[in-house]
Amino acid sequence: MSRSAAVTSMMDVKGVKALEGVQSFLRRDEVFDFIKPVENPLVDTRKNILLYLEGVSVSFDGFKAINDLNLYIEPGELRCIIGPNGAGKTTMMDIITGKTRPDEGEVWLGSNLNLLKMDEADIANAGIGRKFQKPTVFEALSVWENLELAMAGVRSTWGAFRAIMSSSQRDEVKRVLALIGLEKSKNEPAGKLSHGQKQWLEIGMLLMQKPQLLLVDEPVAGMTHQEMDRTAELLLSLAGEQSVVVVEHDMEFVRSIASTVTVLHQGHVLAEGNMDSIQSNPKVREVYLGN
Ligand SMILES: Nc1ncnc2c1ncn2[C@@H]1O[C@H](COP(=O)(O)OP(=O)(O)O)[C@@H](O)[C@H]1O
Ligand SMILES: [Mg+2]
Repeated sequence: MSRSAAVTSMMDVKGVKALEGVQSFLRRDEVFDFIKPVENPLVDTRKNILLYLEGVSVSFDGFKAINDLNLYIEPGELRCIIGPNGAGKTTMMDIITGKTRPDEGEVWLGSNLNLLKMDEADIANAGIGRKFQKPTVFEALSVWENLELAMAGVRSTWGAFRAIMSSSQRDEVKRVLALIGLEKSKNEPAGKLSHGQKQWLEIGMLLMQKPQLLLVDEPVAGMTHQEMDRTAELLLSLAGEQSVVVVEHDMEFVRSIASTVTVLHQGHVLAEGNMDSIQSNPKVREVYLGN
């Protein structure tokens, strides 16, 4: 191709681009800004830390539920937190999500977002999704509709949102549907799902919000062995894309997914490492594993 022909074809490409720009602006199925869920603010993870808790303490009526807690989670990491009842696991999640304010310490998302200066809604918008023990799906709606609704977010009207959903947003629903393994049930009411399937759907709903950090409290309680295996696969497949922090009692399950395990005891980190080092740690055996 001659030089001038190359320049002309470049201009053509640019002209087409400009036209496409105008057309996409006019397209009815394009989602307008006011309906989009709030985008995550930019989280600075250049120091390779996504979540940073340091020297965190909180007391309830003089009882120290969290005591000088340090925790560092890397981007894309899958971390398991174990510990006996009352160790402070749920309180730790309450602190990260802004539900409980610590008396002391620092809590940051990346190196730039001070979570202690943000309220619960801002923290959720910044990219922290939390899955509670009990699944909270909309039972009367189909699996697909639950995912759509989660994508629309609380800020927009679902009806308006689905009317103008773009094909890339539909693809995103399909992608998550495949990830959580519920393609065959997409038109079924969520109320008809098994307990395990409801848990996966709720994880899927959190994923629609594109969290950077997913907090999951006891995901396999009440699941069959098969469902537990599937959940391990799911959580493993999520790591990398986002960081996942799982609180779990079931040792076999933790062993099946964990890279790094943190043991909490009396609101403090008792031990941290891989499952083998945790299980052979005498302090851990004494307070948690030993019978
Ligand atoms: N809102 C609260 N008021 C008073 N005590 C609390 C509150 N939340 C938690 N605690 C106490 O803090 C300790 C840690 O609880 P929790 O975080 O639920 O432990 P875990 O989830 O590891 O079982 C427990 O002794 C619990 O009774
Ligand atoms: Mg708990």
